[in-house]
Amino acid sequence: MSRANPVVMIVEDDLGLRTQLRWALADYEVHLAEDRTSALGTLRREEPEVVILDLGLPPDRDNASEGLAALRAILAFRPHIKVIVASGSEERKNALEAMALGAYDFYPKPVDQDVLKIIVQRAWNSYKLEEQVLQLRQTASCAPFKGFVTACPQMLKVCRTVERVASADVGVLITGESGTGKDVLARAIHEAGLRQRHPFVAINCAAIPETLLESELFGHEKGAFTGAIKQVVGKIEMADGGTLFLDEIGDMPLSLQAKLLRFLQDRTIVRVGGRKPIGVDLRVIAATNKDLKGMMAAGSFREDLFYRLNEVGVVIPPLRERPGDAVLIANYLLKKFRAHLDRSIKGFSPDALAHIDAYSWPGNVRELENRIKRAIVLAEGKYIEAVDLDFDRGPEVPDGSFPTLRQARDAAERTLVLRTLAFTDNNVAEAARLLGVSRPTLYELMKSFNIKRGEGA
Ligand SMILES: Nc1ncnc2c1ncn2[C@@H]1O[C@H](COP(=O)(O)OP(=O)(O)O)[C@@H](O)[C@H]1O
Ligand SMILES: [Mg+2]
Repeated sequence: MSRANPVVMIVEDDLGLRTQLRWALADYEVHLAEDRTSALGTLRREEPEVVILDLGLPPDRDNASEGLAALRAILAFRPHIKVIVASGSEERKNALEAMALGAYDFYPKPVDQDVLKIIVQRAWNSYKLEEQVLQLRQTASCAPFKGFVTACPQMLKVCRTVERVASADVGVLITGESGTGKDVLARAIHEAGLRQRHPFVAINCAAIPETLLESELFGHEKGAFTGAIKQVVGKIEMADGGTLFLDEIGDMPLSLQAKLLRFLQDRTIVRVGGRKPIGVDLRVIAATNKDLKGMMAAGSFREDLFYRLNEVGVVIPPLRERPGDAVLIANYLLKKFRAHLDRSIKGFSPDALAHIDAYSWPGNVRELENRIKRAIVLAEGKYIEAVDLDFDRGPEVPDGSFPTLRQARDAAERTLVLRTLAFTDNNVAEAARLLGVSRPTLYELMKSFNIKRGEGA
């Protein structure tokens, strides 16, 4: 945000005044609107930071009702925008009412160019300051660990515990639903601890078949079993000096649980097919989305192993139980990905944010991440809308008419098909893949919506 001048929108129904105002602000990027409807359209399209608003707009030129309604709509849509209202000298009362509604300043007509410029520059400075404060507040208080963003009190407490135990070298067991950030936290603990200069070695106990898991963990000697054509060092040895991250520990078979426990007790391993005990010094962090206590009761997880791993227990609540975190993390992820994906998206629409806030996020942060990546690619405007995130948005209702559900659905589908085709450069196979339909289905849709290839915009 290093621009010297704001983007300004002038809302004025009088053509002569409009020209005069534009002239006064000739150094700035200026957009014009003549009534409430066109002002809201321009607002969405051009993203002005400062608005100059005439309170006497049609159809109510002699009163301020339409102008004040426009002001309310603008501020509801973009609360940080600086609106400067113009009023005749006898309309002081209206100007004051506008200020009470949240307008930034007012100026008396007729226009004094120098005064107007000063007011606009001041509004712009104030806008920039607010934006900086917002950004600072987000990054400072909400990222207790690198890449781990939260403002939820319960999570911040978890983070404080983690900070304290990080250097203590104790075993940590992280429990939480899939996608809640167990991996991120495990790495954060490693990096905040004394072993940060040594390796962080992760192994996913659920992803490896039981027969291979043992040799993955402990390594094997040449000839230990059919196919063991050379000596292989296991993950435990690789992590020597550092941290071993046992992901999805709840999926570790009982036979291996016993072997792991033995290692944790005497800190030596023997490679599969080998004899020599090898001493290994490491810290263990384990994670699971399973209910280990329930598994212990059912006899499928060893109690003694549980207590070894769970010297300190950390529970990450699901995203839906962390008020405000979805929106906070969404903003963080958007900033992170948009640079990477080379898109100049400014943020989320208020409607999109409301959806993000209200949704239950069964896939937690991972789902949020996937939807945002997709939305950055699909978004047409400078702001990500609810549809881009795969939320159904209420249909845009043209004045006076009301579409049927069917019409609204068709319109939304048609737009999405067009956009996806545009995005894939009219590659139907690729578009079908992104839309999650078969190629013939997409051709059917294109036919029924009367879309020809090349029409996507
Ligand atoms: N608090 C958070 N702040 C930012 N990104 C997060 C946060 N929690 C999770 N993520 C991101 O969400 C994704 C899923 O997190 P991960 O640690 O793999 O979850 P889990 O291991 O619990 O399934 C990762 O890409 C991670 O970077
Ligand atoms: Mg994980």
